[in-house]
Formats: sequence, structure tokens, C-alpha cells
Amino acid sequence: DLMKHIHELEKMFTIDTPKLHEIVSVFQEELIKGLSVAGGTIPMNPTWVIGYPTGDETGTYLALDMGGTNLRVCEVELPEEKGQYEICQSKYRLPEEIKSGTGEQLFDYIAECVKQFLVANHDGQDVKDLKELHLGFTFSYPCEQNAIDHGILQRWTKGFDIEGVEGHDVVPMFEAALERKGVPIKITALVNDTTGTLIASAYTDNTTRIGCIFGTGCNAAYMETVGSIPKLAHMNLDPKLDIAINCEWGAFDNEHRVLPRTVYDKHIDEHSPRPGQQTFEKMVAGLYLGEIFRLVLVDLHSNPDVKIFEKQDISALQTEYSLDSSFLAEIESDPWENLMETHALFEKKLKIETTEPERKLIRRLSELIGTRAARLSACGVAAICKMKNIESCHVGADGSVFNKYPNFQERGAKALREIFGWGRAVRKDPIQIVPSEDGSGVGAALIAALTMKRIRGGI
Ligand code: BG6
Ligand code: GLC
Repeated sequence: DLMKHIHELEKMFTIDTPKLHEIVSVFQEELIKGLSVAGGTIPMNPTWVIGYPTGDETGTYLALDMGGTNLRVCEVELPEEKGQYEICQSKYRLPEEIKSGTGEQLFDYIAECVKQFLVANHDGQDVKDLKELHLGFTFSYPCEQNAIDHGILQRWTKGFDIEGVEGHDVVPMFEAALERKGVPIKITALVNDTTGTLIASAYTDNTTRIGCIFGTGCNAAYMETVGSIPKLAHMNLDPKLDIAINCEWGAFDNEHRVLPRTVYDKHIDEHSPRPGQQTFEKMVAGLYLGEIFRLVLVDLHSNPDVKIFEKQDISALQTEYSLDSSFLAEIESDPWENLMETHALFEKKLKIETTEPERKLIRRLSELIGTRAARLSACGVAAICKMKNIESCHVGADGSVFNKYPNFQERGAKALREIFGWGRAVRKDPIQIVPSEDGSGVGAALIAALTMKRIRGGI
């Protein structure tokens, strides 16, 4: 009887309302610590994106987006009309072997993609004559920035493990690669995907206060006043200035104070290229959801008390990271009645024939993992809002989990209602997480435009 084990899993993965409150409160403390002189575990990196766009930004910009899965090169045109844009783009695959190669291989590969894009889109023009183009480089890893066009990689996240880049400024490394390819473009701005999302969303919706990514990784950016950032006090900047902070909240609770980690979360951490890092991210982000699910099933199978996948060859299930979050998403979109889609998925992908009780457990497990991810993610949003006394706003969001995982958005919204105690009398949720505009294309272009405006204005 699998019901007993389902109940155990429910206990392990459920985050009830009191726990949400507890997490939000520690999260808030840690965000504040990150802004302090002594610092904390959450980096709270100033991005040198100063203020929101006004809508008057114009010009043509290049944007390069290196996320966790894809590589995208875009040319973005910001016309005279406020809040408008046009975009032309190409996607490239980021080969798996690059993620554990050398820095030079990585930057040569992406520089080659930029070159190909320019050759294809600037027909007849010599690439060497494109000096005037300004590039916004969306590089979605934690970087310490002392200027908008510099960034020292603090550490790789999302399973990347490329030697010789951590602790170095990625901008000159990439510019050198562009030069090797004969593409004389300089990087105007180094941008995080969350910052791009914040800026692009604010461009079309002025109620935006936070930009979030719920994808391969999980993170957020928001606008902070310089006067509330003690670690910038030594710079004597105008305390009223607004500056975007890339939280890098994936690192929340690396000291294990509050998150209810299961043995599976601990296993993932210990077997990752950076043990001890990104505790929060490893419980909520797309890269890990399928792996948590797989580890639970392998564990249940090895337990003699649990009769699951009896007499089946589970070798395919034993391959690390063989299931991604789209596998869980498919299970969650299967109608409950007979779970025939789930049956087919297991048969095709894992060569396992499932019984009906097994499919019920599988389905419930996916729901538990997906729900936990959405509820924990909502804690981060709530913590920023509470810290900033934001009572109502839009949170611009992007990423495969947010856009494609069934019920993720609704589960997150429900968690926010529990945290803020919005009762039935509140007809519309005051804080809403909404799909963003293309942050890494338009956002990076806008940030390049804002930077050029500041340079031209001599600030
Ligand atoms: C994309 C953005 O839409 O979402 C990227 O262009 C971002 O910049 C990505 O990194 C995040 O989602 P995922 O699921 O690809 O990690
Ligand atoms: C990881 C990265 C962060 C990025 C996020 C979403 O957390 O460290 O920079 O924003 O993934 O892509």
C-alpha cells in the first residue's frame, strides 16, 4: 500500500503557512545583511543600473543573452515612440561540453555566435566596421561589479564549472575573444537576467518593482535607494539615487537556518560542483526539480518496505540528472483519471511499466515538488516587498518554470495570499507576479541605452 509512503512524502515536502512566515522573516534579515558593510550570504550586488528607463531611450543596440540553456543574440531597436521596441534575434545551442571546459573555449564560442549573427544581419557590411554598435551582455551568474561594464564572477552557478573564470572580470575575457574573431565591439553593460527583466518590465508597466527569474536558476533584482545600502556609504554617492540590486538570492540559507531540507536536497548539494552554495536555488530551480523527483523514486525503490517498480529494470532511472523539470511538468498536466500520459512517459523515457497506485504516487510527488518550489519562491518575493514596505506592485517574471510549469503561478500567488493575509475582501491581489517582457533582449538594450545616456551626459 503506497498511501502510507505518500503521506510521508507529503510531510517532508509541505511548507505550511507558519513555515512560510518563518522563512520570509529570516529571508528579510538575510537580504538586509547582504546590504550591510559586513555583508552576508546573499550577495545583494549593486549593478550600477541607475534608475528606471523613462521611455525616451532610443537607438539600435546589440544584446547577447547567455542564460543556463540557450544563447541568444539580438538586435533591438528602440524607436522614438515611448515604450516601443523592435527585436531581431537568433538562438544558438550552448553545447553541454562547454559548461565544463575552459574560459577561452566558452568566450570563443559565444564570440563566434555574435560574429555569425552580425554577418547574417548586416548584409554586405564588413564586420570590422560595426564598432559603433553597443552591446548589452546578459551574463546570468553572480558578478561583483564596480562599474556597469565590469564584473568579477563570484562563482559559477546552475551546474556550470568552467575553469579560470571565477574571480576574474568576464568583460575583458569576452572582449578579447571578440577581438580574436575580428569583431571590434565593446561591451557597454554587463547585465544579469533579473536586472534585465526588472528594467524591461518597468519600461512597459510602471507598477513594476521587482524582476524575477524562475528558470534553470532562481533569482531576483529590485531598485534600492543608495541611502539604504550601507556597503556603498564609503563612495559618497547621492543617497537619493536609485540603483538596481541583483540579489543572487539563490544563495539564501547557505547556513541552513530555516529551509526544511530533505535528504534529497542534501544529496543534490553534496554531489553538485559547488557544495554548500545556492541552498535555496537547489530546492526551487528548474535544474534541480527533476533530480529531486528522481532521487525520491530511486530511494523508494531501494527500500524493501516500499513495493514500487517491482521486478523492473530501473537502470535508466539511475542516471543522474536524466529527468528535467519538463518531465515533471508533463506529469502534472496529465488528467488525474487514469494518468495514461504518465504511463507512456515512464515507458518511453525510463523503460518502466507503472501500475495505477505507482502512477498516483508519481503524480502526487510531482505536485509536492512543484508546489514546494512555488511556495518557497514566493517567500523571496514577499521578503523584498516587506523589506521595502511595498504594499502593492507588479513583479515581472521570466524563465521556463514560471512560463511552462503547470500551476506554478497560481501556487505562488496562493502562498503570497497566505503570507500577507489578504482575505476575501481583497478582490485583486495587491502584489502580483506577472509575465515580463523580454528582459534579456529589450532589458539589456535599455540598460545599454541608459548607460550611453549617462556617459553622454557626463555622469
Ligand atoms: C529567458 C531569458 O527567457 O529566460 C534569459 O532570455 C533567462 O536571460 C532565462 O536566463 C531564464 O530561464 P531558463 O529557464 O532558460 O533558465
Ligand atoms: C542563478 C544565477 C543568477 C541568475 C539566476 C537565474 O541563480 O546565479 O545570476 O539570475 O540563476 O538565471
